[in-house]
Amino acid sequence: MREDAPPLKGFFFGLASPCFTMIKAVLPEGAKSVTPRHYLICFTHKEDVMKVAIIGTGVMGRGWITQCAMTGNEVHCYDSNPETLEGTVAYCGGLATKAAKKLRIDDPEYAAKATERIHVHQDREAFVEAAKGCDVFLEVIFEDLDLKCRVLADYLPGLPENVIFWSNTSSLDIDVMGEAGGRPDRSIVTHGMNPVPLMPGVEVVPGAKTSPQTVEFTRTALLEMQKAPFLAPNIPGFWVNRLLVPQMLDAVRLLEQGKIQVEDGDVGLLTSLGHPQGTFKLHDFVTTPTMLRVALEMYQASNDPRMYPPLILMRMVRNGEHGAVSGKGFYDWSDPRNPKARDLSGYVVGGADHMIRAIGA
Ligand SMILES: NC(=O)c1ccc[n+]([C@@H]2O[C@H](COP(=O)([O-])OP(=O)(O)OC[C@H]3O[C@@H](n4cnc5c(N)ncnc54)[C@H](O)[C@@H]3O)[C@@H](O)[C@H]2O)c1
Repeated sequence: MREDAPPLKGFFFGLASPCFTMIKAVLPEGAKSVTPRHYLICFTHKEDVMKVAIIGTGVMGRGWITQCAMTGNEVHCYDSNPETLEGTVAYCGGLATKAAKKLRIDDPEYAAKATERIHVHQDREAFVEAAKGCDVFLEVIFEDLDLKCRVLADYLPGLPENVIFWSNTSSLDIDVMGEAGGRPDRSIVTHGMNPVPLMPGVEVVPGAKTSPQTVEFTRTALLEMQKAPFLAPNIPGFWVNRLLVPQMLDAVRLLEQGKIQVEDGDVGLLTSLGHPQGTFKLHDFVTTPTMLRVALEMYQASNDPRMYPPLILMRMVRNGEHGAVSGKGFYDWSDPRNPKARDLSGYVVGGADHMIRAIGA
């Protein structure tokens, strides 16, 4: 861990021209122009290459792997599902290409150079050995507190003291995970948004025992990874999902009642509230199983009935309609460039008879 990390400086975006020389030093190779994120990095830039061990190479794990590799860090990754692991490097290469386009980086080799820094471990023991030499151990597995705690109790005690534990959980209690892993002072949530390389925000959630050094290290490391960290409270759903999840579930409940259709709902939010994508499309990117897990975990932790997942979500998960990854969710993703809003009137629960049929009773 880099205890010598410098204190955070202010971000003076207005000082464009005096800063340009400094910024040029940290611009990614091939970058044609400067974006606000380059200003962020230049204030905290250090020469170190971080080593990050990532467990879980699903939707979010792949985003984090790409982000780490794109910003010059060495990444070691592992997933208990060999099939998921197999497609990881190719997927991350595609994500890096998309990110390069967005950052206006004109380097045809950019994605290839990034993927060279990704080390995929098919073997659990080899991953553990690699993790021993890392600065950070980042967990990105299913949103299931019991499972996360079991995995942390299994992996963390074997790693050196200096390894910082990051969790990408979107709603769970870092105090419980910190204790499970046996290093509560060096445990912290780094909740990235999907897709990680295209969404700068990272919610940083310290627990009651997280040390100030861990918080400072994490914020500095995230800035160096070209992320935009912000502090959030350790409550179910933290800041972002505490506001977002009830709204997303309300939308699905209205759909289930037959009050709104997918297309109208999303067009309404896009054109009236300036959302970058509608709530139903967002469900499809998050995936319905993850939404279901997040809702149930937040419900268990808060006992708030608005967090209880609607029946339609459970039925979609059961029917394999997981969203963009499975080709079908609230949209039909047969043509991923042109998803079509689905007619989900078959899922409307109109009354007691409907409900009884829906649950197969
Ligand atoms: N999907 C999103 O948009 C989103 C956004 C922010 C945060 N998150 C959070 O990120 C985390 C991961 O979500 P995701 O969407 O990437 O899920 P996912 O289902 O796409 O991936 C989870 C991966 O974890 C692996 N895994 C499960 N148990 C394991 C174990 N014991 N050892 C090794 N690997 C194991 C699975 O095989 C799977 O590949 C969750 O905590 C979720 O709440 C998700």
